[in-house]
Amino acid sequence: MPHSYLTSNSSQPVTHLDLLTMKQRGEKFACLTAYDASFSALIDAAGIDAILVGDSLGMVIQGNPTTLPVKMDDMVYHTRCVTKTCKRALVIADLPFMTYATPEMAAQNAAALIQEGGAQMVKLEGAKVEIIQFLVAQGISVCGHLGLLPQFIHQLGSYKVQGKVAESAAQLLADALAIQNAGAAMLVLECVPADLARKITEKLTIPVIGIGAGKCCDAQVLVVYDMLGISTGKRPRFSKNFLIETNSIETALKNYCHAVKQGDFPTAAHSF
Ligand code: KIV
Repeated sequence: MPHSYLTSNSSQPVTHLDLLTMKQRGEKFACLTAYDASFSALIDAAGIDAILVGDSLGMVIQGNPTTLPVKMDDMVYHTRCVTKTCKRALVIADLPFMTYATPEMAAQNAAALIQEGGAQMVKLEGAKVEIIQFLVAQGISVCGHLGLLPQFIHQLGSYKVQGKVAESAAQLLADALAIQNAGAAMLVLECVPADLARKITEKLTIPVIGIGAGKCCDAQVLVVYDMLGISTGKRPRFSKNFLIETNSIETALKNYCHAVKQGDFPTAAHSF
């Protein structure tokens, strides 16, 4: 059965204000990664409200073991591919590793994602409060990213759940509030216990997009190749293969959108 969900019952491009309104109304929204024009068009047509051009492309497109080798030129190229066919969803593009070490670098690189790539928002990892403040002061929409930070993999040692002990959980909540106060419009929470994600989502007024963060976040994001079962590595526990129950990519995307909006995905089995 086809499902159709449109923010504010319109086919107008989704803005971060629409997503904020959805949070305020208690309506969940779905997000997926995309890196090319074909998937972007399919995801957009499925009614998904936000597309993330993630630096996960370094792993799933380029075949690297981490996201660290991704360059600005790669991000601009893939963001441009995605925005060419995305008519409705909000497009968020990642600032890759070491491209936002200073406010000036961050502003120049965020400008490239917006001006050349056509993104509406940029995402960066960590509690980079000064960088976020600087970008926001230039008129750039920013999405924060906390929890498991793939760009910090060599410090973390492995891709593991974050915020499991009281001290790190309190730090994550404090960082989330600091990112919101710095002017970020949204926050991605990756691989944190579901109960902590719920607390952070309740405290924040901006939308919280979870990945491996339980069902109480305002929205969910997955890597599109993982949820279609076409990634080369092992599918992470927090992901689900939506293609396995249907022979159609379009139906799998719509089923994911429907499951997120209904609160049916993620389940406890996909959470920590
Ligand atoms: O790069 C990416 O795809 C991401 C998501 C996993 C949140 O940052």
